[in-house]
Amino acid sequence: MIIYKTEAEVAKMKEAAMLVSKTLTEVAKVLKPGITTRQIDQLCADFIKQHHAVSSFLNYRGYPFTICSSVNDVVVHGFPNDTPLKNGDIVSIDMGVILDGWHGDHAYTFILGDAAPEVIELVKITKESLYKGIEKATVNNRIGDIAYAIQEHTEFKHGYGVVRELVGHGLGRSLHEDPQVPNYGKRGSGPKMKENLVLAIEPMINLGSKDVYTDDDGWTVRTRDGKPSVHFEHDVCIKRNQALILSDYSIIEAAEKANPHLNSSYY
Ligand code: MF3
Ligand code: CO
Repeated sequence: MIIYKTEAEVAKMKEAAMLVSKTLTEVAKVLKPGITTRQIDQLCADFIKQHHAVSSFLNYRGYPFTICSSVNDVVVHGFPNDTPLKNGDIVSIDMGVILDGWHGDHAYTFILGDAAPEVIELVKITKESLYKGIEKATVNNRIGDIAYAIQEHTEFKHGYGVVRELVGHGLGRSLHEDPQVPNYGKRGSGPKMKENLVLAIEPMINLGSKDVYTDDDGWTVRTRDGKPSVHFEHDVCIKRNQALILSDYSIIEAAEKANPHLNSSYY
């Protein structure tokens, strides 16, 4: 069942989404070779607590951390750990909060220093594909229009692997609401969107094949071929002419640009 939000509810969801963006901005300030994803997890847990929110992820179906930190060949749902990040790594930080009963949930992929040019290009194209999808997130379009736009830009234009097993989703009082939002599909297919549907749109795009598997920990999703994967996610509210993006990459990007350890040369 698709749940449409009132204007007042959208305003509250904006607050939740912005808290996630602010937290990812704090992450962008401290990321550097040598830091561990466990330290990032602790920073995020502390930050959202200070802001009177709780984690959407912690204990969700038994998920044991505040963030998902997905490095290189990890697609999504990577556990924070004690392995120091190193020059050339890419890391997606995905985080959700519950603020006043409403969920925010988004992700950003950071590049530490000198990643291979083909990896930087994958990051660029995946981020672009998210905005191509968002362009289609308007009243009277269908979910398949978003899905196709993402697949066209990544798979058809650039030959990347679009992960099939994991999809975007509706967002609200629950982390995962209807409808599912795949990153592949046919134009004109799927549910028709009406005003004030809130979606988490999240392309997960592989440099190589689309095939993935889940580690023995039951969560960590990796590429089968071991090649890198990139994940970006925005929270958007469907509007008539243009979706309202509830999350805010501009503050994350400003911190990323100011951090000499992060590579933001691609945008
Ligand atoms: N952004 C992911 C999603 O929407 C993160 C979920 S991780 C979990 O599904 F820990 F909450 F499961
Ligand atoms: Co999500």
